[in-house]
Amino acid sequence: MEALVNGIKIQYREKGTGDPLLLLHGFPLDGSMWDDQLEALSDRFRVIAPDLRGCGGSESSESTSMEQMADDAAALLEKLGIAKAIVCGFSMGGYVTFALLRRRPELVRGLILTNTKAEPDTEEGKAGRAAMAAAIRERGAVAAAEAMLPKLLSPAAPERQPTLAERLRRTMLAQPPQGLAAAAMAMAARPDATPQLGGIAVPTLVIGSDGDTIMPFAIAEAMAAAIPGAALRRVDGAGHAANVEQPAAWNGIVRDWHADTVAFR
Ligand code: MLT
Repeated sequence: MEALVNGIKIQYREKGTGDPLLLLHGFPLDGSMWDDQLEALSDRFRVIAPDLRGCGGSESSESTSMEQMADDAAALLEKLGIAKAIVCGFSMGGYVTFALLRRRPELVRGLILTNTKAEPDTEEGKAGRAAMAAAIRERGAVAAAEAMLPKLLSPAAPERQPTLAERLRRTMLAQPPQGLAAAAMAMAARPDATPQLGGIAVPTLVIGSDGDTIMPFAIAEAMAAAIPGAALRRVDGAGHAANVEQPAAWNGIVRDWHADTVAFR
């Protein structure tokens, strides 16, 4: 499905009729990273998984920002007639979620922060983003895929789930290079979201995984400790992309949290 928001075409997937659940994907991926969630959670939620600006089937702009992506997500919710949603951000999608909380907190009724963090890039991290963006402009999406694919899944995954790494590789290679480069630079420019954590006043679930080398579980622990009343859960047997590698466990955590914490508020 497509919607025209903020002057560009945004592609999104939607399934189910329950409590609205907006799923924001990571880099260098698109909304298809939530395919398992769209299937499994649509009995309970109205699941919406957009391709962020410059990713998947959504149009790119010359440059972008976490704020711009958040504004696109907000405009999409409005187009769909949704006044409030549970917003779930994975990794870069988490950075967009923090921007959405800064700009449009009234749209957020609950928060799921999975395999993400509130801290900004270090100077070294920013230099790495610039190098990544340059490599993408020169060599295309393959530059991002080579760097990220080995970190997305746990080392055991290629043997245990042979089609999974291939599915992610195909998704990465299909990403528009201009959009990827813009997203990399936008991540580098994002502000520190740690000052926001203590003021989060909606039910929040923080998820990490035992094998995430990009966002080690200690980051999830510290973030959950800084958010009043946040629940913390760990997915075992997963690398960075916990919802992709262990969908049953990840979906179960979200279902239980929703039933216990959010559903009747
Ligand atoms: C992601 O998965 O979105 C990225 O790893 C985030 C990042 O590089 O900071």
